[in-house]
Amino acid sequence: MTGFYRQDATLVCDDVPLEPIAALHGTPLYVYSASTIAARYRAIDDAFAGYPHAIHYALKANSTLAITRLLRGLGSAADANSGGEIDVALRAGFIPAQIVFTGVGKTMAELGQAIDLGVRSINVESAGEIDRVDALSRERQVRTKIAIRINPDVDAKTHPHISTGLKTNKFGIVIADVPALCAHARTLAGIDIVGLHAHIGSQITDLNPLARAARALVDLARELAAAGTRIEHLDLGGGLGVSYDGSRVPSAREYADAVLPIVRDAGLAIVLEPGRQIVAPAGALLTRVVDVKEAGGSGDRLFAVMDAGMTELIRPMLYNAFHRIEPVVRTDAPLISCDVVGPLCESSDTLGRDRMLPRPRVGELYAVLDAGAYGSVMASNYNRRPLPAEVMIENGKAMLIRRRQTIDELLALEI
Ligand SMILES: Cc1ncc(COP(=O)(O)O)c(C=O)c1O
Repeated sequence: MTGFYRQDATLVCDDVPLEPIAALHGTPLYVYSASTIAARYRAIDDAFAGYPHAIHYALKANSTLAITRLLRGLGSAADANSGGEIDVALRAGFIPAQIVFTGVGKTMAELGQAIDLGVRSINVESAGEIDRVDALSRERQVRTKIAIRINPDVDAKTHPHISTGLKTNKFGIVIADVPALCAHARTLAGIDIVGLHAHIGSQITDLNPLARAARALVDLARELAAAGTRIEHLDLGGGLGVSYDGSRVPSAREYADAVLPIVRDAGLAIVLEPGRQIVAPAGALLTRVVDVKEAGGSGDRLFAVMDAGMTELIRPMLYNAFHRIEPVVRTDAPLISCDVVGPLCESSDTLGRDRMLPRPRVGELYAVLDAGAYGSVMASNYNRRPLPAEVMIENGKAMLIRRRQTIDELLALEI
């Protein structure tokens, strides 16, 4: 389920050739397959069918409006991680009751925004945040629904930079502190505790940590119920990984099979916050070769310099992440090893090292695959590079869903 495949030698997205799209809109360019997003959303929904669940798509993975709207149309709700993401969710048509608000550093303004809207739940991260939500709610004479984000101290066995469930990580509240905190929160007039939340990391390909986090939530819910705090839902977070290199990873159904027997015990509705699982394989970054050169002229290392780099896709530089990089039109030329690098003034600006490719040619179009999640959302203007354009393929048509930023727009904020 990726939407990107070859017709003869040519890479297409849902039967639409990529070269004419790149010629029309320029590169670097993100291209997404709407049918893949839909299929991957439905795979999760189907896997949990028969158990009360709500999918709150994690906007942080990719919140381009057209993608957010597409997911809303499919029946998804939203997980927002900032005031900006709450705004995007509203503009995409979500109602506040479909939004959960997570985030380790919510400002007073962001909390006030979520309280005024009456979101489904604010997933609180600390004792201090509970008191702030309470104070802001009492000022407004409302009661705000919160879920307590626990830190289950579970090793997600993923890259340290995307691991969030260890007690050494900044996220959530240590389980041992939660019962006393709930007892305190129950005395507060501005708060209703409706849920428990855990999110232990991203790109998790071992189901055991996810099952252990679910178990921690269920056990805690039971302990709290015995002490008089009855909650309505368990939020299992996101985190299920995808295959970037073709290796086998657990499916949505295997994930459901791992966690449902555990949560069934509690009999509580569940919230899921998948991001990457839905959109990563549904997107590719198109980029052209701007130069081909040999290191020191010695011939022992070949660089393919592309027109996309860390400003468009920072995952390889930030997490050492692997993405498949392929010429859009495959040739029979012999394969040689080369480093696929970006145009930025950073040595770390490398999209892929030691890749076996037909000798790249200037002007040739390449695709960096599985780039739909944490790609365009993390793009930056470093080196004064405008944000890339984005295209969505839907029903055989290529639609521009975000045009390329202009230098004028980039400078418009400066005085
Ligand atoms: C609280 C929370 N929920 C959901 C997600 C989505 O994670 P993923 O894209 O790995 O599914 C994240 C991402 O880190 C997160 O921090």
